[in-house]
Amino acid sequence: MTTLSNLDKRMIWHPFTQEKTAPNVIDIKKASGSYIYDQNNKAYLDLISSWWVNIHGHCNIEIANSIYEQAKTLEHVIFAGFTHEAAINLCKALRTILPPKLTKFFFSDNGSTAVEVAIKMAYQYWHNLGYKGKSIFLSFEGGYHGDTFGAMSVGMESGFNTQFKELFFKVLAIPYADTWDGDLEIEVKERKAIKVLQEYLTQYQGKIAAIILEPLIQGAKGMRICRTEFLQNIIKLIRQNNILVIFDEVMTGFGRTGTYFALDQLSGIVPDFLCLSKGITGGFLPLALTITNDDIYAAFLGDDFNTAFAHGHSYTANPLACSAAIASFNLLMKRECKTAIQNINSVHHTGIKFLKEKCKLIEKFRIIGTICAFDIKAKNLMTIMKARFLDEGLLLRPLSNTIYLLPPYCVSREELENAYDKIAEIINSLE
Ligand SMILES: Cc1ncc(COP(=O)(O)O)c(C=O)c1O
Repeated sequence: MTTLSNLDKRMIWHPFTQEKTAPNVIDIKKASGSYIYDQNNKAYLDLISSWWVNIHGHCNIEIANSIYEQAKTLEHVIFAGFTHEAAINLCKALRTILPPKLTKFFFSDNGSTAVEVAIKMAYQYWHNLGYKGKSIFLSFEGGYHGDTFGAMSVGMESGFNTQFKELFFKVLAIPYADTWDGDLEIEVKERKAIKVLQEYLTQYQGKIAAIILEPLIQGAKGMRICRTEFLQNIIKLIRQNNILVIFDEVMTGFGRTGTYFALDQLSGIVPDFLCLSKGITGGFLPLALTITNDDIYAAFLGDDFNTAFAHGHSYTANPLACSAAIASFNLLMKRECKTAIQNINSVHHTGIKFLKEKCKLIEKFRIIGTICAFDIKAKNLMTIMKARFLDEGLLLRPLSNTIYLLPPYCVSREELENAYDKIAEIINSLE
């Protein structure tokens, strides 16, 4: 019999996959709430919100209905020279939770393009103002910002795209001071990072266009958390040197870190560009935003096209995606959602306490908002561990030797507590 999995093998090339050695893909038939279900109706608890997008779980009826209603009225329209209510309503809604300075919204389709747009705008901003040679970018070691060329360049030190290195533009990477429960070295790491930044600022004075960073937590490099004071000190230095600030909140946006945005925890800091995607539509449709301020926008105004931002995508501000985003936003605003986010955080704390008692193989515990991560001391166990998680009905996708839980907000206490029990059992069975 030809299974879907066999047909897939014949035709489809999957993302971030070594096609030669990867196990057969799992055929998913349906999803609901925190679960996805395979062809045999086996349930998997989606503890990674399907690559960090399904913040309200799967097949949420309010988001589904919002898309359906929109589809009956206006499914798409070119966004150059035209606008529509769904885009305007989304921007209006987001403005109620964004810093007042962030006023201008540029739409695209995914996290990489949100970043690409910010990088291009930052570069062209200085160009339009007549600055010469302000073309270098700063980033953090381990920062990941997507897979288009600009995003890969600034994410070079994440190690995911080294094959393309010779095609990248100049980026200076600052050491990242990541930390965890009981880390005794943090101050040393932070001082080292600040020193490297100061050296760059002296050596490349007047040549740096912008810094890009994932605020508070680096996702793809292994859920690496840093302290708020560290970022505040970094940004202070950046601001003193006439350099723009890009916050990549593609992963951290929409409640992930316990606040609407990670920037809410960095009091007094407002980036020049904020990149959003992933959770924006609750996992229903691709959409992204690069949000900036009036000063940046003003630098692109002129009497001819030369100073305009010559960038756009066919599906820019797709009305269906915007309507999904509005419904997802409305769910995020509900008191139940805030309580759910707090509950997840509290279960993570008890879960970590439990794992510390039960498992000798794990270390470097870290929690922020709805995200919990820890490292496995034995790297060689990761492939088998991932397979065991799936066997036990847990969708977890370790990043190198880091196991992390980033569940949808609709996950129940009981589901999450059971997941911690199973995780401990699996880790101990492999010791
Ligand atoms: C912080 C961050 N920025 C950008 C991206 C790229 O987003 P996308 O995969 O939607 O292009 C990701 C994806 O994981 C991300 O985590």
